Amino acid sequence: MQVTVSSGNNINGTLVLPLFEGAESVPETNEGIPTALKSQINRVLGDGDFKAKANATMSLMGTEGGKAILIGLGKEDKADHHTYRKAGATIVASHKKHHGNEMTVFFDTSDIEAMASFAEGMMLRDYSYDHYKMADEDDEKTELSARMNCNEGDATALSAAIDRAASITSGVHLSRDLGNCPPNDMYPMAFAEKAELWAKEYDNVKVQVIDYEAAKRHGMGGLVAVGMGSSRKPCMVIFTLNGDQKGQHPVLVGKGITFDTGGISLKPGANMDEMKYDMGGSATVFGTMQALASCGYDKKVVGITCMAENMPAANAQRPGDVIKTLSGKTIEVLNTDAEGRLVLSDGLWKAGTDFDAEYIIDFATLTGACVVALGHEATGLWSNDEDFRTRIHEAGNAVGELAWPMPLLPAFEKEMTDSKIADTRNLGAGRYGGANTAAAFLKQFVPERGEGDEAKQITWAHMDIAGTYWGAKTNKMVGNGATGIHVRTLVKLITGQ
Ligand code: BES
Ligand code: MN
Ligand code: ZN
Repeated sequence: MQVTVSSGNNINGTLVLPLFEGAESVPETNEGIPTALKSQINRVLGDGDFKAKANATMSLMGTEGGKAILIGLGKEDKADHHTYRKAGATIVASHKKHHGNEMTVFFDTSDIEAMASFAEGMMLRDYSYDHYKMADEDDEKTELSARMNCNEGDATALSAAIDRAASITSGVHLSRDLGNCPPNDMYPMAFAEKAELWAKEYDNVKVQVIDYEAAKRHGMGGLVAVGMGSSRKPCMVIFTLNGDQKGQHPVLVGKGITFDTGGISLKPGANMDEMKYDMGGSATVFGTMQALASCGYDKKVVGITCMAENMPAANAQRPGDVIKTLSGKTIEVLNTDAEGRLVLSDGLWKAGTDFDAEYIIDFATLTGACVVALGHEATGLWSNDEDFRTRIHEAGNAVGELAWPMPLLPAFEKEMTDSKIADTRNLGAGRYGGANTAAAFLKQFVPERGEGDEAKQITWAHMDIAGTYWGAKTNKMVGNGATGIHVRTLVKLITGQ
């Protein structure tokens, strides 16, 4: 979607008018609305036919003065940038062909953040995944375009804010494209090839692929065990942004199970198709790298994605197997469906040992238990550092992507390390607290920094996006399918804006 800025007070296409509850006429600041259209809007408002409740819309089509869509912002004293972002998204969600493809938004505010948020909501929501549909010639889709009308003095700043939002949106949309891609086309090396192709677009990014043979050589026992049963072999993809910058930097790690059948511990058939989005963590990492590169971020960031397809096969791993991971620690595999933690054990270890990580955050559609705990409304958030956990929680709140603090208790760690024959076990003792035991398991693979008494585990957070990466019906920024959640949280956390 093309979003431009203008201070000319003229309307291109359909007028979009965001209004606060209680508005009885067109705001006086809105100059340039044709008289016929203005009086029709005033009549509707004066009669109380449109109350401007948050996200209510009304379209006024056949007047001489042109078309208009009214969009409610709710109560003025409650309106913040989230309100504007949701209103922008609502306009696109309710957009019909007869509204036309061009829109001009007139605001009753000169708050640049509010206007940019409205544009951001429009851009985020303007997404559909139809690569696999035959193009219908009659129904040729023309791109939506929107013009934000503002004061002359605000145009440059608003334009810059919208450009940045467009860059970030490109990362969110990339994450969704990857998550929505069917699993026959999205397999580990296909993801790697997309990453390599992407790296050609920027001079300051690098992508390294550790393929199956190399992973075996390096001793990535978790990644290899999960992926070996598939004819689509596993790999690890490492993204580096601004690799020439010195000093500590964030390292992001993503679970990339391109399809999770459960393996020999086979899942039941119902809704198994949805397990194509079990690579949502890797899509979050890739999408974030795109968002950061596109906005011109100039510091170093590394992303590590652990790609594998979890299949049952003659050469698949078995429940009962003991595997040795990159860290040297062994895992008793009690259930092959708890595979995400196995591939992440190698990714986390690599993150903390091969890089000078300021902090590590992993993203994973890790447990059904997290969906039981938090539904589709919030991501589960665990960390070995409370201040860091709070920073992530706040970055999420700031962009409307909720991440809820969850406990890393010593008892859960004990539960995951009391295997009779290995250092760790990939299954808890019972099914209770399954999201917490999974987090406690991951913690065993976060390296320490420093020697002896000085040794301290690297700052780390785990985000379980099983409920928020997919099927989040109340997320207004997306219609259906992959949500692309947390690309915006990460940009906020990493860049501070
Ligand atoms: N990918 C699933 C978790 C999942 C479930 C994501 C539902 C999205 C929606 C994960 O690999 C898994 O199978 N987890 C098991 C763990 C169990 C065997 C300890 C689960 O949640 O049942
Ligand atoms: Mn699984
Ligand atoms: Zn999984």
